Amino acid sequence: MSIAEYMHRKPIADIVGEAEQHVLAPTLGALSITSLGIGCIIGAGIFVLTGTAAAQYAGPGIMLSFVLGGIACTFVGLCYAELAALLPVAGSTYTYTYATLGELVAWIIGWDLVLEYAMGAATVSVGWSGYVVSLLANFGMHIPPAYAAAPGTVAETLANGTIVHGIVNLPAAFIVAILTYMLVMGTRESARVNNIMVAVKLAVVLAFILVGSAYVVSANWHPLVPANTGEFGHFGWSGLLRGSAVVFFAFIGFDAVSTAAQEARNPQRDMPIGILGSLLICTVLYIAVSAVLTGIVPYGQLNVADPIAKAVDVIGLTWFSVLIKIGALAGLTTVILVLLYGQSRIFYTIAKDGLLPQVFSEVHPVRRTPWKSQMMIGTIVAIVAALTPIGILGEMVSIGTLFAFILVCGAVIYLRRSDASVARPFRTPGVPVVPILGILFCLLLMAGLPIETWMRLVVWLVIGLVVYFSYGRNHSVLRTGSAPPAPHQTMKAG
Ligand code: ALA
Repeated sequence: MSIAEYMHRKPIADIVGEAEQHVLAPTLGALSITSLGIGCIIGAGIFVLTGTAAAQYAGPGIMLSFVLGGIACTFVGLCYAELAALLPVAGSTYTYTYATLGELVAWIIGWDLVLEYAMGAATVSVGWSGYVVSLLANFGMHIPPAYAAAPGTVAETLANGTIVHGIVNLPAAFIVAILTYMLVMGTRESARVNNIMVAVKLAVVLAFILVGSAYVVSANWHPLVPANTGEFGHFGWSGLLRGSAVVFFAFIGFDAVSTAAQEARNPQRDMPIGILGSLLICTVLYIAVSAVLTGIVPYGQLNVADPIAKAVDVIGLTWFSVLIKIGALAGLTTVILVLLYGQSRIFYTIAKDGLLPQVFSEVHPVRRTPWKSQMMIGTIVAIVAALTPIGILGEMVSIGTLFAFILVCGAVIYLRRSDASVARPFRTPGVPVVPILGILFCLLLMAGLPIETWMRLVVWLVIGLVVYFSYGRNHSVLRTGSAPPAPHQTMKAG
């Protein structure tokens, strides 16, 4: 077998043709695109992982970690916008790669995207669990901590010093089950609901910054970068880098904005404003939140399931803490919904190409949702969320997404040469410098992650290769020339 055999590229004309079958009205302006971005971005990253990353890796320097993460995402975002406007179809990075680097790499990336979407949904669900347990406690309802934490994690430390370990995270599995049911029944987050959620999230975050800043004790910020413990990634500059890689999770979602390229009124102007605008706003908010958070609570105490609420409790404003928790829960819920939805649509696209079994592209005759796929995804995500600590999940999502982003940047450079004449509604400025910087920054962040996380990525990719060589290779529509598997119905218009 020659390598060329696995380099079949899906012709761009085909992809553009598929996209044109679902022509969407160009109705979105820069403001709506920015709002869409913020809706997808703000979630467990800022509400949970900031605390864990400050406590374990970066200390107050977590503020600088956010700067680094924001810069990396800016370069990637500019590349994403070009591909999204050129190939505006479901499947995102998977589709871009199929058109550039060929089928095998596309499959690898599609498999890798499971880490971003399905594992991302599991991560945010664990964050949701932390906040719901804390909110219920405000109303006198106490969920036994061991049933709201993954096995092996510390669920609580009793007054006599005894440590209680987690058994299963039931609230995390519960929210996945509920949202999966809604998606199977055809619930879609409407633009209106999204706007309300964005407003709620922004209000909560802004209120925290404004109220919290009055209670900052600046001594908590010193030293800004605590001395390294002697171990790579634990404080010091390497800790700052690891902190960036962990809180990179907080930026994920801006790539979803690119999928709106087809609906933008003026993609050349509005896409970069939307992507960079939402990134900029989130970066500024994140830096401010992490500054206030580490200013109120000494960073060593932030390794909790609901750090923002903890900070408010430290201030002593219980009513405000309840509001923060409700806002956080609303925000986290929409992020889980978008991620679960996105995962099923990526599988749908891959199955239509024949690389996954047809069951993933089967659509319910009445609901017009990919219900079987959605239920399988929901079951697995719920199990993973119930049994895995948020730290491990978040790092897996970060490394998987960074890997995907590297391929996106590479695809921009490649396509400029291979398909120079195709009309690009949006062109990344400064090619090849901007994509190369994107690749370098992603590699830098990946380098900050622990070796165990790299090993998990490798194992995950090897499993993906086994699946491809035992199934996808023999069923690929492009390679075998067979007709695409016909779904029973088309899906609801997206
Ligand atoms: N950026 C999203 C979050 O922080 C995924 O939850």
